[in-house]
Amino acid sequence: MKHPQSLGDTPSDEFRKQLHELADWVADFRENIESLPVAPDEKPGAIRAQLPAQAPEERESFEEILNDVNRVIVPGMVHWSHPMFLAYFGWTTTAPAILGEIITAPLNVNAMTWRTSPAATELETLMIDWIRQWVHLPQRFGGVVYDTASVGVMHALAVAREETAPFVRKRGLVGAGAPVFRIYASEQAHSSAEKAAIALGLGEENVQRVPTDSLFRMDASALREMIACDVRDGFKPLAAIATVGTTSTASVDPIPEIAGICREFRMWLHIDGAYGAGFAILPEYKSMAAGWSDADSIVVNPHKSLFVPLDFSVLYVRDLEKLRRVFTLVPEYLRGDTVEAEKNYMDYGIQLGRRFRALKAWIIFRSFGREGIVARLREHIRLANIFADWIRKDNRFELAAPGSLGIVCFRFVSGDENEFDKLNSEIVEQINASGRAYLTQTKLRGQTVMRIGIGNVLTTEDHLRKAWEIIQETADALSSKTKSQLPNPKQVPVNKNADAVGREWLDF
Ligand SMILES: Cc1ncc(COP(=O)(O)O)c(C=O)c1O
Repeated sequence: MKHPQSLGDTPSDEFRKQLHELADWVADFRENIESLPVAPDEKPGAIRAQLPAQAPEERESFEEILNDVNRVIVPGMVHWSHPMFLAYFGWTTTAPAILGEIITAPLNVNAMTWRTSPAATELETLMIDWIRQWVHLPQRFGGVVYDTASVGVMHALAVAREETAPFVRKRGLVGAGAPVFRIYASEQAHSSAEKAAIALGLGEENVQRVPTDSLFRMDASALREMIACDVRDGFKPLAAIATVGTTSTASVDPIPEIAGICREFRMWLHIDGAYGAGFAILPEYKSMAAGWSDADSIVVNPHKSLFVPLDFSVLYVRDLEKLRRVFTLVPEYLRGDTVEAEKNYMDYGIQLGRRFRALKAWIIFRSFGREGIVARLREHIRLANIFADWIRKDNRFELAAPGSLGIVCFRFVSGDENEFDKLNSEIVEQINASGRAYLTQTKLRGQTVMRIGIGNVLTTEDHLRKAWEIIQETADALSSKTKSQLPNPKQVPVNKNADAVGREWLDF
């Protein structure tokens, strides 16, 4: 049904009606999410093919739009909130988080300066401080909320670069006579290190990958040797990135040793705690935070492990003023709105316009309480441990890495050894295509392994057991096929940059 022409937007009585409908839609979606396939088995382009190629000339009703959401969008989604979604870090949204997103929308804030958004700015500062206390960082660490950890590490390395070669901000690398910098991260660290080096003009190849030990942790003695060798060859070691909760196995690098090496060579220490750092809120994991106070910067992603939905990532810097000095720049038209600022977050990064992310975090943290977050994380660790036990007890499978936090990497190892890579990849492909569960595959030491991440608040032990049964069934069915019947593994879209630096894991 077409509406009479208007200048756009919706009359308030109609809007109220739509909101009520939407409230039911949201509640129904969440209540019934389990009945949906976790993922569609569509070919690329299938969603677009169901929608008009041109934007509508005349307005359409909310009813028509919502119908299309139900008809095309919802079935075309991977449902990251589904209890059987066990990929990546589990990932989650929660009921309070959805309320938080809803309240944020009408407020329509741009948190660029304090004046343009006093409550958003001050709440952001408060949330940064709550999380700082939870992860046991000293008070001198200040922070800023970005969308992602990738953006966080880029900003951190920009500060490191300016510390070592002052005037790069003003004159650029060549103008400032900067040396060829080197950055070190373990071979298990995230590819955002290379992305940051690309963006900062430091060069992807200057991110040096340090070998890991048998537990996938950075080998600190190899780090020292690589740095010493680079110094002899005329490179300038700039920074080490130590990871707390690596992408594939959630391994934790030996931070105190790495911090010592950074001190010795006067290098910046950035800790990528995107996934793992949030777990320091658990009293029994407090010791994991040893050495963090020696870092120059650390990233924590509440959107990975503290129940805040994407996006919400905090970069802490030991001396936040250094970050401000690299990025502050006030154009004339903003001057009036910056004068009485307590803090203008636009000064702490390349972004000017900024969402009001702190509101949803505040609502979630208050709704859970610290105790609630701790209880949830403990439950996720418990579930991951149960799953690891099931793997240990079934001799057709083996653990591919020690279980860590909410992550378990495992491998089907029954039958012809030469087929294991193909088989493990195909098990994941088939399960994901079935819509019954969703897992990740990755590579460890050259071998394809399966991986689950527990992080979803809707995932219970029953769901996990069901997933385990699906994995066993699928593995049985596929392994009983002859070698020639097994399909070649699908080409998994591996980040070309990651390939170029010789790493094996999938980029997520
Ligand atoms: C250890 C680690 N660091 C950084 C990132 C990048 O996170 P973001 O998506 O917030 O940029 C990831 C992504 O999964 C990760 O696993």
